[in-house]
Amino acid sequence: MTKLLIDCDPGIDDALALALAAGSPYLEVVGVTTVGGNVDLARTTANALALREFLDLGDVPVTPGAAGALLRKTVRAAHVHGSTGLGDAVLPPPTRPACEGHAVDFIVNTLRASPGEITLVATGPLTNIALAVRREPRIVEWARDFVIMGGSYTRGNHNPAAEFNMLADPEAASIVFDAGWTVKMLGLDVTLKALVTTEVLDRMRPLGRLADVLLVPAASAYGMVTAEGGPAIHDACAVAYALDPSLFTCVPAVVRVETAGLYTSGMTVTDFKLHDRPANALVATSLEAGRFWDVVLEAYGRLARRLG
Ligand code: RIB
Ligand code: CA
Repeated sequence: MTKLLIDCDPGIDDALALALAAGSPYLEVVGVTTVGGNVDLARTTANALALREFLDLGDVPVTPGAAGALLRKTVRAAHVHGSTGLGDAVLPPPTRPACEGHAVDFIVNTLRASPGEITLVATGPLTNIALAVRREPRIVEWARDFVIMGGSYTRGNHNPAAEFNMLADPEAASIVFDAGWTVKMLGLDVTLKALVTTEVLDRMRPLGRLADVLLVPAASAYGMVTAEGGPAIHDACAVAYALDPSLFTCVPAVVRVETAGLYTSGMTVTDFKLHDRPANALVATSLEAGRFWDVVLEAYGRLARRLG
């Protein structure tokens, strides 16, 4: 069983990543923390609380964190995720509140209490993670692994240079990549291959309430679904890596995050030529898309049977 602490900004693909974590019998979510990102913190937290109940995640603590970036003005992606952050999906409102306290303290305290046992997964801007590293640098040793959806060694999505999660808080991303751990970087280079095509959506449709309330309305609102292509469920790749790294080919690299560029801030400058420097990242360069969807849809099927 792999224990996950997921820091996220739900967000359609964050929701689909949480569904994968909730459905897989090999993953145990021990905590969810939220950050302002796709939509504001109040909304990402409300979405996480609703997802906790809808996805049958039980008493998993949900703790809110940073509302915005360390230094930069706010960047949002409501044009992609909709004003609610979950596209056309309308979940039953949550009945239980978020935990008291701050995500940064939750992350530090949870990793401190179980050193070497918990994989930290980040699928939004890295503000909470950077603050946690600054508060307690030893979390880089306590985390069993650290996996992000973010960055790209080719080109961005929010602009030609930067992927959204990195662009939203470049200073935080720079702190995180320089913290001393090996960041497992699931960037756009592979996540843009995890596409909800017509065939994938057709495999989702029979999955009962999970499909009717979340999967289909969220995925359909996330982009044009066709036989050849569709919206990418970026964040599910990070959880899929934690579940089965063999789905991906990864290469060691030195990744530096641009923070000074007028047009390139947030760019993950990725050097695969280590030149005797220690790698600070393991960068995913390919995805076995067919097997990825088999794994994801199998977990969704298990969850759907629980939800009815
Ligand atoms: O660039 C994709 C990333 O930005 C995903 O995490 C998505 O949820 C958005 O936050
Ligand atoms: Ca996200």
